[in-house]
This record gives sequence, structure tokens and C-alpha cells, in this order.
Amino acid sequence: MTETDTDTGLVVLTNREPYVHDAPNDVTKPVGGLTAAMDDVMREIGGTWVAHGHGRADFDVTDSDGYVTVPPDDGQYSLKRLDIPDQPYEGYYYGYSNQVLWPLCHEHVDRIRASPDDWTAYTAVNEQFAGAALDALARQDDDTALLWVHDYHLALVPELVRRQTDGDVTIQHFWHIPWPPAQLFDRSPHAAALLTGLLGNDRIGFHTHGYAQEFLATVERTLPDAEVDTDALQVTHEGRTVEVYVAPVGIDTQTVDNLAESPEAERFWRDLREREGIAPDERIAVSVDRLDYTKGILQRLDAVEHLLERDDSLRGSFRLLQKGSPTREQIPEYERYQRDIFEKIRHLNDRFGTEEWQPVVYLDGRYTRAEISSLYRNADVCIVSPLADGYNLVAQEYVAANQSASGALVLSKFAGVHTLIGDDAFTINPHDTAGFAAQIEAALDAPKTERAERFQRMYEQVAASDIGAWMEHSLGQWSR
Ligand code: G6P
Repeated sequence: MTETDTDTGLVVLTNREPYVHDAPNDVTKPVGGLTAAMDDVMREIGGTWVAHGHGRADFDVTDSDGYVTVPPDDGQYSLKRLDIPDQPYEGYYYGYSNQVLWPLCHEHVDRIRASPDDWTAYTAVNEQFAGAALDALARQDDDTALLWVHDYHLALVPELVRRQTDGDVTIQHFWHIPWPPAQLFDRSPHAAALLTGLLGNDRIGFHTHGYAQEFLATVERTLPDAEVDTDALQVTHEGRTVEVYVAPVGIDTQTVDNLAESPEAERFWRDLREREGIAPDERIAVSVDRLDYTKGILQRLDAVEHLLERDDSLRGSFRLLQKGSPTREQIPEYERYQRDIFEKIRHLNDRFGTEEWQPVVYLDGRYTRAEISSLYRNADVCIVSPLADGYNLVAQEYVAANQSASGALVLSKFAGVHTLIGDDAFTINPHDTAGFAAQIEAALDAPKTERAERFQRMYEQVAASDIGAWMEHSLGQWSR
């Protein structure tokens, strides 16, 4: 689709917007898997995207209903930025979404901080999103409109919208983070309300069969009058049947590969080597994360410390380039985590570093996709070590960008994407420091042919399960 197509019948709802307007004629793209994946989808098929506006909305050139066409230089779909007051937004985003649902779904129960006001705020913002979804749906020509709601921020929206439509809209949801074990979710005082919200959908998607089955088990446990069919992946509730589907999110492999080969990427890598004094024969590990406690960054640094303790030949000849992006900094747990990471890096560099060489280089600031791809392209090893992760795009991007350079992937068995490429990655349990260190070493030392064979198989899997496959899975029935 090349022309702007804003009334295709597709309306997408996410918390975060795909383009943040910081200044006139200046937009940036936020870090994070969801918006990157959905922007690719929307550029391809058009439609309307509704999200919270994080930037300066007064720089937008909108139509009279407040819709703007994006990407700014190449309008392909329509974006409605919602103006949500600081309160309830903070209680909804920093409170309920990220201090209750996020830790709950990633099984960090000890990090849950629940306040009744945050639930009230969550409900209010979900109501505002539902109202905006109804407005956007009313603008669609198509009588087979599809509302596609994303993620844990908006669990109540489907039921709120369904109550106000007469059945001519299909509503579906994609849950991008893990679904935790049923007995854990059931501990939430709002478990029944959240599930009732989600069962307003016609379809609910998850990355893995494991999450889908836990979702069904949770419904069975928490809503006694729902009928659950775990083989057919269906729930019947209040006279309607809701389908559960499994569709792992993928990437656009070709684009990542092209970016990794671009002159911008090459230039960036040359400059980085020079600035950091990286020797030609040094072996490089790379990690790219939001600074989130689910990503296992401290465990990774422990493993690197163990490795350097055990094998002193690596001192001076190996380093970890850690690209980090601060995230959710207003939440004390995140602020603490960030501080702990910097402290640990300082400790490692003090302990093993010399004038010419530091074992860990922390890379700060905003990087373009080409710059990130150049890190992947030039790394001997990429380390992805979450304690829990819905799926994980970094591992897939590394595979796409490094394909012809014969790298190796060290991957946590707790990342959803391990179900796709775990057989050919060097699998780790991030809690097992010695085992983790041994796998980094094994990845570095594996013979070239073994690395190439593993990589080829991973690439085939990632390419076959790319963003197009996710779209087909998620939208196939509707778009036909
Ligand atoms: C990760 C998760 C997404 C989630 C996003 C939110 O990328 O995989 O499911 O929507 O974080 O990040 P944010 O920066 O918007 O809090």
C-alpha cells in the first residue's frame, strides 16, 4: 500500500505512540518491541492507530478531529494522540500497568506495589481509550471493521467497547508479555475484572502455546461460569465464544539485514572501535536492553565476572558492549536497578580493567536502527538473558543482522523466542552463573562451521516466522 489509507477498517490501540513529536518537524521513535513491530504492520496495510501522546501535541498538524498522518515524511496511516491528564495517566501507567501487571506477569511478585487509586486510574484511562476507539471506528467506511487492542495496559477496553457496539465490529487483542501461571494471576484482587475485560474480545493472541494454556487455566480457575476448551483453545462466556490463538511476533529480516550492511552502520562501527580502542582481534559480546529488571542484566554481569575470574586469557581480549536504554525511571524499582547495573559495571572495570582495556563498555544514548544493527553485525556473540520475556526481538534482530558474519547467540530459556530458536542457540539459565559463563565461553570457542550451521538454522526459523507471518496469523481471517 503506497498511498495514505486511513479508513481500511483497521483500528489499533496501544498505550505508546509510534512517533513522538518533540519539536516542530522533529519526531523520534520510542524504544521497545511493540511499537516497532506495529509500525511495520501499519505502514503495510494502513488504518488508524490510537495511542497516548507523549510528546508535544501542539506541534501536530491534525485534521479537525485531531488525527495526524504518519510517518511524518511519508504518510501511510492515521494516528490519534490521546491527551490524558497526568492524573490518571501516572496511576494507570507507572502504577497499575507497571507496578502491578508487569511484575505479576513476569513473576516478580515481590516487586508488586498495588494502590487502590492506581486501579481507579487504570479503569479511567481504559474508559478514555474505549471512547477514542469508538470514535475511530465510527470514521471507518468498512462495515467489517476490526479493533485490535494491544497489551496489558488496555485489558478492560474490549468489554467496554463491546457493550457499546452492536456486534458489527470484530475485537481482538494481542498480549505481548508472558501470561503467568494461573495460581499466580488468580492472586490479583482484580483477576476477575481483568479477565472479563479481555473476554470482551473475539480473539486473544499470545506468543507461545505455554502462555495460551496458562491463560485458559486462569479463566477456568478464576471465572467458574466460563467454559474452557483447552484443545480447541476456546472460552465460552456469557453466551459468546472467544478464540485464543498463538502467533509469535517476528521482525522484518530483510530490512534489518540491509541496515546492518548500510554505510551508516559501517561508519558507526569504525568510529566506535576507534573511540573505545577495540583491538582487531578482540572478541566482542553485545547486549541490547531496556534497563528493566526482567532482562537479567545483573545476572549477565555476574556471569561475565565469573568468566574473567576463571579464564584470565580473556582479560584484554574479550569485552561486553552493553547498550542500555533507561525506562520507566519514575518507578523506584527501575531507578534502583539502573543504579545497581552502573555500580556493577564500575566494579567489573575496576577489578579487571587496565589503562587500555575495560571488560564492559556501557553504550548510552539514542541509537538509530542502523547503529544497533551494526553492533549485531560485528559481535562474535550476542547475549540475551531475561528472567522472563514475552518473546524478544533483540535475539531475532541479531540473527537477521549477523547472518553472514557467523556469530553465536547466548539465549535464556525463559525468553518466549527460545521456543523458536532455542535448539541452535547456546541456552542458559540466567540464575546459574557458572553455567551461564560456560555457555558464553562455549559460544566464543565453537568452531566456525558449527557456529555457521547453528546460525543458518536460526536464520531460517526467524525468516519463516517474520513480521509477515505474524500479520497473516493475526489479521488473515479479517483481511481476506
Ligand atoms: C516491552 C514489551 C511490550 C510493552 C513495552 C512497553 O517492549 O514487550 O509488551 O508494551 O515494553 O514499554 P514502555 O516503554 O511503553 O513502558
